[in-house]
Amino acid sequence: MTAGTLGIVRQAEHPVLPKPTHDERARQEFARSLKGFVQQGLLPGLGPVFQGRVGPAFARAHGRPPADRHDIRRGMVEDPYFQHYAATNRIAQELLWESVLDSIERQWSALNARAAQLSARATAPLEIAAGFDVPRYVTAIDIHCMPGGYAAEAGPDDVAAGALYDRGVFLYAMGFMGPFNDDMGRSVVNWLKRHLPDFRPQRILDLGCTVGHSTLPYKEGFPEAEVTGIDVAAPQLRYAHARAAGLGLEVAFRQRNAEATGFPDDHFDLVVSHILLHETSGKAMPRIFHECFRILKPGGLMIHADLPPFDLMDPFAQFILDNETWYNNEPFWGAMRDVDQPALARAAGFVDVRFDTAPMAILEAAGAAGGAEREFVAGEFAPGGGWEILVGRKPE
Ligand SMILES: C[S@@+](CC[C@H](N)C(=O)[O-])C[C@H]1O[C@@H](n2cnc3c(N)ncnc32)[C@H](O)[C@@H]1O
Repeated sequence: MTAGTLGIVRQAEHPVLPKPTHDERARQEFARSLKGFVQQGLLPGLGPVFQGRVGPAFARAHGRPPADRHDIRRGMVEDPYFQHYAATNRIAQELLWESVLDSIERQWSALNARAAQLSARATAPLEIAAGFDVPRYVTAIDIHCMPGGYAAEAGPDDVAAGALYDRGVFLYAMGFMGPFNDDMGRSVVNWLKRHLPDFRPQRILDLGCTVGHSTLPYKEGFPEAEVTGIDVAAPQLRYAHARAAGLGLEVAFRQRNAEATGFPDDHFDLVVSHILLHETSGKAMPRIFHECFRILKPGGLMIHADLPPFDLMDPFAQFILDNETWYNNEPFWGAMRDVDQPALARAAGFVDVRFDTAPMAILEAAGAAGGAEREFVAGEFAPGGGWEILVGRKPE
């Protein structure tokens, strides 16, 4: 299945989305289709290569079959088919960002000016903190090869990194995040409405909101609520604020660290995050759980949507997914999947802690979730058509 079969062919327009020229769009579509070829053309060959030659060669050399993803990797990295796959995947990823970056550089001043105008008209606040200390795990490398990373900025109005993320993620996800890249937020909102139909949160906080892709569905789903997105990266927040205003939604965006947000105790009814945790660190994660506990009201809910833990999948699927750690500048991607997240949440004080699956909203909308079996495609976050969520409740 491709997102095209669900009718998601183009990213939805909004006033700050950079507009590619014909040639820029052609390059972007080439990068996206190269990635599609890697996923659909090369990736399926890895299983037969492992079964047919790498696994047996490992067994001959070691006197035992490969035991885990590390053994599988040790064997596979020597194989030319795997090398071809991994190199092409990396090239597709770099090409994808480059194709967007060129387009943004051409319209940089106009984008910054448009974002500033939209933000000025919004009534919900945008808070950028002077001298803010961005954690090293965000700045040390260009996460998922995004040039400059999340927080790089060339001036006080700069939104380039936000524009790069917005357009790049649509290409990276090959449409599976939906036309507004908001499928994770939309899916968690659907999950809440289904499981807790009487839940009426008054204050909602989205941690690590980037450009607000997942934040806005909470405002749409709970229009009475005060919705806030926080992030450490100023250019993402500027873009997020302008994008929300351009889409007619009043959401506050504040530059805060999820490890120590500065919000009062017992403040929020719902604290969520989407693909934040795997981009933090082993030290940050427990701090974030403790902070969620502190700022939630008694009875409030914490939900983190992120990568499924490794113990839910077989060693070969673990190996495939762990390639992001090795070849896509995602240092915490694999390690995070080995962390006992429910134990961390319980240690922070949460009860009713569990993993659950929020069916992908794009599939539900197409009537496909639950019914059609969906092939697991490595690199996707949502095997089986759902996003993995960790849920915990602060006791009354
Ligand atoms: C993969 S993106 C999250 C995507 C976003 N939640 C969405 O659903 O579109 C990770 C984001 O987390 C932010 N981040 C990383 N560590 C953080 C922290 N300690 N506090 C707040 N934001 C953080 C990064 O700056 C980046 O914008």
